[in-house]
Amino acid sequence: MSYDPTAAGTTADAATTEGPPTLPTDRRTGCPFDPPTGLTAPSDEPLRRMRCADGHIGWLVTGHAAARAVLSDPRFSSRYELLHPPIPMPGLPEQLPPAPVGDIIGLDAPEHTRYRRLLTGKFTVRRMRRLTERVQHFTAECLDAMEQAGPTADLVAAFAQPVPALMICELLGVPYADRERFQSQVAALFDQTAEVEAKGDAYTALSHYLNELVLAKRAEPTDDLLSDLTTSDLTDEELAGIGGLLLAAGLDTTANMLGLGTFALLSNPDQLDALRADPALAGQTVEELLRYLSVADPIPRAALEDVEVEGRLIRTGETVTVSVQAANRDPRRFPDPDRLDLHRGATGHLAFGHGAHQCLGQQLARVEMTVAFPALFARFPTLRLAVPPQEVPLRDRSNIYGVISLPVTWDKE
Ligand code: HEM
Repeated sequence: MSYDPTAAGTTADAATTEGPPTLPTDRRTGCPFDPPTGLTAPSDEPLRRMRCADGHIGWLVTGHAAARAVLSDPRFSSRYELLHPPIPMPGLPEQLPPAPVGDIIGLDAPEHTRYRRLLTGKFTVRRMRRLTERVQHFTAECLDAMEQAGPTADLVAAFAQPVPALMICELLGVPYADRERFQSQVAALFDQTAEVEAKGDAYTALSHYLNELVLAKRAEPTDDLLSDLTTSDLTDEELAGIGGLLLAAGLDTTANMLGLGTFALLSNPDQLDALRADPALAGQTVEELLRYLSVADPIPRAALEDVEVEGRLIRTGETVTVSVQAANRDPRRFPDPDRLDLHRGATGHLAFGHGAHQCLGQQLARVEMTVAFPALFARFPTLRLAVPPQEVPLRDRSNIYGVISLPVTWDKE
């Protein structure tokens, strides 16, 4: 099905303040772990009208059931060129460009299904087991280095960034020593203040880097996912694009969960004590932190036809912005949602998305966090913030929320 998204739906002047409000993004007041002011809606309004950054009048979904319904319905498309951006993007063209080769998040079936099947088969139990051993080993190494350099550290630079960076490099077969080359490009991709053109340049640079690597893997395969994929019918361009996507998707997401998650636990000492007393709580801790923090948000979709969701009619071409963080605070699904409660059994959260595009790397992310959080708090029983909580710089101009740095300290034995 095809239509012209620039002609579909209602459009208001982007600069006007008339009509429905834009996506709430202001986190300056209140708790740094809560969704922006005004984002969560009264529980009887799971979806409401919203003005996109280009003036298009679409929908904002904040209810858990409505979010699941939209994300699992193939009548809602992920194709970028059909979407109206929920968040302002400097240098935005009239229409978003289609997904670059390999960026499967911006594809629908059947193209998406082809790539997805191929990739799912590569996240094997054997590979995950080996990565678990590596994450244990590497977490210990990072903690050793932090301990030696301490008793103060920026937890983001010392721990939250290096652990996921090494893991995604191991998975793909990317040399860890090259991380300087791709880390800034990945940051640009998620930066809401970066020009659309700059994001395109970052993606191209990332693809070039991956392209060199693909050629090297074809010539001399090693035991990793990228080498594995060279035996498929994917072209070099597709392989480089997929590699770039995995690198980008796996780096900042988990890093921000580790940084912001540590901040949240340090700010909730009763919950941290519960985890310290019972390391078997690690799995539940990870699920509750994923729900409570929902760092990857929002997820936009475009209606390919008229669809009714919870009694509201979404018209063909309208953009529906699913707010995962609001849905994960829906009191009808999670009682007392603003409380971090490690014992609640937070299964069913949408932090990894839902439906056809549900996160491909979620097993790896879970392994990393289940190992990293208990190891950190076991190594530093007196770990605490080194600055007042309101001085922790927040990463609130990025599509992946988190902390820019997390100054911590501890008592030396
Ligand atoms: C805590 C860490 C993570 C979070 C919160 C997260 C979140 C998400 C979300 C919300 C989506 C759905 C996007 C959509 O529906 O449009 C997604 C998709 C995806 N994620 Fe993750 N992710 C994490 C870690 C990872 C890791 C470690 C990898 C790579 C190994 C990864 C690879 C992907 C890929 C490839 C997709 C696209 C899947 C598709 O379109 O079929 N993610 N992730």
